[in-house]
Amino acid sequence: MLQKIQETASFLRSKIDVIPDIAVILGTGLGELAHEISDKKEIPYEEIPNFPVSTVEGHSGKLIFGQLGGKPVLAMQGRFHYYEGYTMREVTFPVRVFQALGIRYLFVSNAAGGMNGSFDIGDIMLIDDHINVFPEHPLRGKNYKELGTRFPDMSEAYSKDLRLMAMAIAKESNIKLQHGVYVGTQGPTFETPAEYNWFRIMGGDAVGMSTVPEVIVANHAGMKVLAFSIITDLGVIGKIVEVTHEDVQEAAKIAQPKMAYIMQEVIKRIK
Ligand code: HPA
Repeated sequence: MLQKIQETASFLRSKIDVIPDIAVILGTGLGELAHEISDKKEIPYEEIPNFPVSTVEGHSGKLIFGQLGGKPVLAMQGRFHYYEGYTMREVTFPVRVFQALGIRYLFVSNAAGGMNGSFDIGDIMLIDDHINVFPEHPLRGKNYKELGTRFPDMSEAYSKDLRLMAMAIAKESNIKLQHGVYVGTQGPTFETPAEYNWFRIMGGDAVGMSTVPEVIVANHAGMKVLAFSIITDLGVIGKIVEVTHEDVQEAAKIAQPKMAYIMQEVIKRIK
């Protein structure tokens, strides 16, 4: 595993001049931020050694190196979901490569179902914390001490400093920003009404099928994390309607410029 990570990191180092400090994972329907990146160099996942092979032909995604908010960044357009059949090590492999490159900040976005009664479709939720209900833990198995400690602390999985920055930016720009707890679940089914209710009682404000594995590994790797959910449907009693992947993509598309703005401003202000 360590050798594969190093091999992939060396390959990427050979392709770029500047190694960024910041990586961004773009979620479902949230690829627009990539248009804001200038001086782009794109590398399709198929060309990257050891990167997981896509389950959907022609839709595997790419890494984008470039400038965002005046800083060099590395963006992942398209992520690997557990429901696609990847192992947790595969889902989180890119984050290990970011670690090997020396990346210190991970920004993440996703689409999620809202369970908090005060949320509306199209809201942006800053993730304060998460609850991991995936059936497998990304750090299960041998711990490589070169990568991190056996029992990582998770008391501030989402950096407080970065969250405060994001909240200040939203306030200055009059962008409505909700915040709350993200429940990470395996999917691929959306929740039954009883499951949404269970996740809400558990302490969740939004639920989705990603992010938690990558954020756990980023924390193990000592990175600072900032993450946002776009609320694309509601799992609130009385407001639950049938939901499709297309609905999720459509709602994400509408909200994403605001989220992209906040992310870009945070990038400008860090360090
Ligand atoms: N549940 C799980 N994942 C999701 C949802 C949802 O309601 N919406 C977007 N991703």
